[in-house]
Amino acid sequence: MRILGLETSCDETAVAIVRDGNKIISSVVSSSLPLHAKTGGVIPETAAREQVKALAPVLGKVISLDELRSIDAFGVTYGPGLIGSLLVGVEAAKTLSFTLQKPLVPVNHLIGHLYSAWLENPQPPDFPLIALIVSGGHTELLFVSGHGNWRYIGGTRDDAAGEAFDKIARLLGLGFPGGPEIETRAHLGKSEFQLPRPMIGDNTYDFSFSGLKTAFVNLVDRLKKGGSLDQIQVNNLAASCQEAIVDVLVSKSIRAAKEFGANNIVLGGGVAANAYLRKTLLGNFTGNVYFPDPKYSVDNGAMIAAAAYFNYKPMPWNEVRADASILF
Ligand code: KG4
Ligand code: ZN
Repeated sequence: MRILGLETSCDETAVAIVRDGNKIISSVVSSSLPLHAKTGGVIPETAAREQVKALAPVLGKVISLDELRSIDAFGVTYGPGLIGSLLVGVEAAKTLSFTLQKPLVPVNHLIGHLYSAWLENPQPPDFPLIALIVSGGHTELLFVSGHGNWRYIGGTRDDAAGEAFDKIARLLGLGFPGGPEIETRAHLGKSEFQLPRPMIGDNTYDFSFSGLKTAFVNLVDRLKKGGSLDQIQVNNLAASCQEAIVDVLVSKSIRAAKEFGANNIVLGGGVAANAYLRKTLLGNFTGNVYFPDPKYSVDNGAMIAAAAYFNYKPMPWNEVRADASILF
C-alpha cells in the first residue's frame, strides 16, 4: 500500500510517499526555519504564509499528476501545531482525497514522530514500548501496547525540552534553533556547573523545565558580573544544561519502562537527534532503545504516512478538521 503523507504543522512543509509503512519512495521537506532564525523563533503568521507558498511546489517534486492517481490513500497531520500552518496541509489533503476519491487518514503529529522509528528500519520497535516524544513544543511520555493503542502517562507542565534548549541557547548568544548549537558547544566543554534536575525524583511522569531555565539565568548573571562570558564558559554551560535536561528525560523514561513492564523505549521528535541523549539512554537502559535516523527526527511527511499506514482509520474528507491543541 502506498500512502502519501503531508505534514505542515509548524515551519516544515513536507510531503512523502511511503510503501507499507516503512519504505520511503520519495520524501521532500522544505523549511522556513532560516526566516525564523532571524527573529529567534517561529512567528505563526510567517510560518503559515510560507506553508502556502511551499506546499504545491513540494508536492510537485514528490509526485506527478498521473502518479497521484495511483496513490492508495492520503495521510495528513491534523494537530497539534500552529493553526494557520495546519490548515494549509489539512485543506490540501481534503481536496486531494475528494477529487481523487481516495481515503484520507488524519494523523496526530506526535504519533507521527513515534513512527519515524519505523522508517527504513529493518528491525522496527517491539511492543510494549515507552515512547518519549521530545520536540520544540512537546515533551510527552506514552505507553504503547500495540499499533493504535497508546496511553498518555505524562508530559511537560511548562516548557518543552526543545524549547528549553532554544531559550538557553539564546541566553548564551547562540543561534536558533538552539538544540543543535547547544549539542555542538557541549561537545567542546565539560559539565562543571550544578543545575537542578526538576521533578526527577517525584512519582509522576511529568516534566518541568522552567525552573531549570531560571536557575540557568541566575547562574549566567553571576558568571557575567557585568562583563561577558568567554567561550570556555559558554561550552561548559552548554554541557551542564544538556546533561541536566538529558538526565531528567532518561531517568523518567527508564522508570516508566520498568513500571509498565516495557522492554523497549522509542525516541521521537527533534530533540531525539541529540547524540548525548541517545548515548545516555543506550548506556543506562537494559532493554532495547530505538530512535529514528536523525534525518527523520525533524518534521517530515514520511513519518505521517507511516503513522497513517499502521493506524489506518480513514475518515470522510469533510469530517477532517485541523485541531491546533489536540494532545492525544
Ligand atoms: O520536532 P521538531 O523538528 O519540531 C517541533 O515539532 O517542535 O523539533 C524542533 C526542536 C527544537 O527545539 C530544536 O532545538 C530541537 O528540536 N533539536 C535539538 C537537536 N536538534 C533539534 N535539541 C537538542 N539536540 C539536538 N541535536
Ligand atoms: Zn514535530
